[in-house]
Amino acid sequence: MKRVAVMTSGGDAPGMNAAIRAVVRTALEFGIEVIGVRQAFSGCLNGDFQPLDSVAVSGILQRGGTVLQTAREEEIRTLSGQRKALRRLNEAGIDGMVVIGGGGSMAGALALHKLGFKVVGVPGSIDNDIWGTDMSIGVDTALNTIIDALDRIRDTATSHQRAFLVEVMGRNTGYLALMSSILGGAEIVVTPEREATMEEIADSLIDSYTRGKSHAIAVIAEGASVSTTKLADYLESHPQVGFEIRLSILGHMQRGGRPSAFDRRLASILGMRALEALRDGQSGVMPGMQGREIHQVPLEEVVVNERHMSDWYYDLAHILSR
Ligand code: F6P
Repeated sequence: MKRVAVMTSGGDAPGMNAAIRAVVRTALEFGIEVIGVRQAFSGCLNGDFQPLDSVAVSGILQRGGTVLQTAREEEIRTLSGQRKALRRLNEAGIDGMVVIGGGGSMAGALALHKLGFKVVGVPGSIDNDIWGTDMSIGVDTALNTIIDALDRIRDTATSHQRAFLVEVMGRNTGYLALMSSILGGAEIVVTPEREATMEEIADSLIDSYTRGKSHAIAVIAEGASVSTTKLADYLESHPQVGFEIRLSILGHMQRGGRPSAFDRRLASILGMRALEALRDGQSGVMPGMQGREIHQVPLEEVVVNERHMSDWYYDLAHILSR
């Protein structure tokens, strides 16, 4: 292997820059040249390549976002798009690639692997919905951001005896919602895996109010079927809830910011392991953290399985909210 490419794909996640840096510096250590692909698979299809040396990745370890930029590209889902991407990579003399991103990006990586190109994935997404790894790059930072927001919201909620509905990211899974509800002391959590009706949410807030709580926080995952704006209207029109109601949608601020120590460490380790796999001739795998070990998980497994939280965490959330 003489020249590898690296890209970040899908939603950005804090720590992606640390992963790029680890890929580049490990490759250089192995005597392999590195080409950065700008704007993920879109850049790949357009041949938007830029050589990366050690200095190019200096000073990015602590930065959020991704210096290579990212995109969600539909064309790479088609066979013609995949062939076009391979042509571009071949023309640039690239013989392997690291794709840092979420589930959709791992599917793109797998498609290129199946066409005979050497590709290794690195899990990066704040949602923590990627199979084969306990944690993805960016999750810890996003969780800390949400907890910080919940702490601040509780200060003002208590001062006014209000209940806050806090909508957090998580399109298909409720990891961020569930964990932040436990670690941020919320009264109730609603996720795509554990839905609740408006009546049930109202009952939980009424229960908190009648037990004399000075505030209540309901964390709702973006992917849950209840609409937070409709829920806010519903609760406002039920005075027996007791609390005044406010809605706070945290949005994309959850994706930005300096990566935590955990994410820098995870990104550095996974970036290095990805390069080791390519150097050793492996392809179609993704290094994943499982307990204290890093395993090379086949992308075939990654893309067909869904990662969900154990039900036990919902019990924990409920008990600790009492
Ligand atoms: O997958 C990460 C994520 O932040 C999801 O939680 C969210 O639903 C989605 O990306 C938002 O995507 P976009 O930035 O394209 O609006």
